[in-house]
Amino acid sequence: MGVARPLMGRRDLIGLSCGVLLAATAALLRSSRPVVTVKRGVPDGDVGLFAAMRVRRSIREYTGEDVSLDDVQMLCWSAQGMTCPITGYRASPSAGAKFPLEVFAAVSRGVYHYWPEADDLKEHSTRDVRRKLSMASLNQPWVRDAAVDIVLCAEYERTTVRYGERGRRYVHMEAGHAAQNVLLTAVALGLGAVPIGAFDEDGVSMALGIEYPLVPVYLISIGHPAETSCGTEGEQL
Ligand SMILES: Cc1cc2nc3c(=O)[nH]c(=O)nc-3n(C[C@H](O)[C@H](O)[C@H](O)COP(=O)(O)O)c2cc1C
Repeated sequence: MGVARPLMGRRDLIGLSCGVLLAATAALLRSSRPVVTVKRGVPDGDVGLFAAMRVRRSIREYTGEDVSLDDVQMLCWSAQGMTCPITGYRASPSAGAKFPLEVFAAVSRGVYHYWPEADDLKEHSTRDVRRKLSMASLNQPWVRDAAVDIVLCAEYERTTVRYGERGRRYVHMEAGHAAQNVLLTAVALGLGAVPIGAFDEDGVSMALGIEYPLVPVYLISIGHPAETSCGTEGEQL
């Protein structure tokens, strides 16, 4: 005869409590800004990690078709999504688990601020700022033409308070981790993306409508690809 197991173990209870706590905190943080709740989970037709790595290429020409909010949310989730309800840890590693990064997504209908606690997109503004982001990025046309520009911003102090000046390096390393997740997720979603490091911080901040202590550290322009990933059709997924 098997020993009857309690319906919930200690770990389940801790997990549930933390989940409830996180949900309550998220509810408290909720402002009057509209929140877009979109689908969760692994995207349809997930290509697998190694295929995504093999096919990833910087893509700078797009069809002009919008990217769905489901996909925008998935891209943001890959950068900073909360993957453990118990610890609150994220899809990207973070030095000292200080999580200095904030993720913004600029699309045609406005700017969204990704909210890791709730895995939601919170409306930040209703202006299409992609042209301004492009101007702040040495007029790179793909920043303007992208269906979505993901802007990784940092509050350095969250990390430097523990690690001093070295913390600034950590923040940039983390932006690289998050950006790579976004680039590979773009491939998995059938999209094309290019990381953008050449931009003027003040110009991007103004375009986005953010202020110090938040500073933009990395952009990723993403859209439906209008070019092949490696110059040959055979390399396309
Ligand atoms: C830190 C960093 C900054 C970059 N900045 C830009 C940029 O501002 N504009 C751009 O078109 N590509 C930029 N790129 C993309 C590189 O040009 C690209 O990765 C390189 O040409 C290799 O091509 P691949 O990404 O297709 O492998 C950047 C890449 C990195 C890693």
